[in-house]
Amino acid sequence: MSELVIIGSERSEAGIPAAMEILRRGGSAQDAVERGLQLCEDNLADHYIGTGGLPNARGIVELDASMMVGSTRAFGAVAAVKNFPNPISIARAVMEKLPQHALLVGEGAEAFADFLGFERAELLTPEARELWLQQLKTVPQESIEGENTKATTGDERYRLASLELVKRMAPHEGPWGTINIIALDKNGELVCGVSTSGYPYKHPGRVGDSAVPGAGNYADIRYGSAACTGRGELALRSGAARTVVENMRAGMEPEDACYAALQEARALPDDFRAELRCLALTPDGRHGGAAGMEGSTYTLMTEHSTQPEFRPRKALL
Ligand code: GLY
Repeated sequence: MSELVIIGSERSEAGIPAAMEILRRGGSAQDAVERGLQLCEDNLADHYIGTGGLPNARGIVELDASMMVGSTRAFGAVAAVKNFPNPISIARAVMEKLPQHALLVGEGAEAFADFLGFERAELLTPEARELWLQQLKTVPQESIEGENTKATTGDERYRLASLELVKRMAPHEGPWGTINIIALDKNGELVCGVSTSGYPYKHPGRVGDSAVPGAGNYADIRYGSAACTGRGELALRSGAARTVVENMRAGMEPEDACYAALQEARALPDDFRAELRCLALTPDGRHGGAAGMEGSTYTLMTEHSTQPEFRPRKALL
């Protein structure tokens, strides 16, 4: 019997204790990851996932989520889903009930969720809407009246302003973004789940790394599982989660495997650079993480924990 271990990214502590309780009762890593992320998605104080997530450039919340199982490398994901509060559950359903496919987007994903009877809900909370509006007010006037701007209507100016805002986005001071949870159950199954409302003010239809296997989520029972938060385009372009797993396959410890994957991503040219973070868990319960800045942590619970512990991530020099 394997030791029970769960790790998660910043703010996953909203769901990890309940996920560990599922494992302690003999439940599967799939159930633990799904429940843990559902609770994070339902946390209205979190503006980067589920209900209360920050919207896209049109003010609409679009969610991405995925789940991957280490023993089979089965993968299910949804992207750009509107009006369903728990995309992780739809992603799991894609994996288990629609195995001929791995990723559904937009209306098709919503039709699948309707077919399965998932409840619809308003995802844009008043607080998230207010945050979104405040940020739009900070767009400098020259960005909408500058010489490159041919916009004549308010609608055109609005879209250019949103694009300008995306361009200026800098890494936040504190923890932000997507949530990852990776669980190792008593049967030695390793499952990784990722859920996000994506980059705030993103272009409608933009899909990040969270819904893409090998980019934001990867699990292979032979070597381990890894997941990412932060600048999804860098994780997509570098295949970050798969790189972490390949690094562990080559013999690196999880922390070093994450660090090396971030170094590779950092080498890519990127005018919109923001931080990327990784964490990883091996089939024998070793874990680690890396981040672009000092002071970053990931969350850990084992079968012996009474509460979540916060472990440092190795910071890129
Ligand atoms: N890492 C989440 C995103 O870029 O959407």
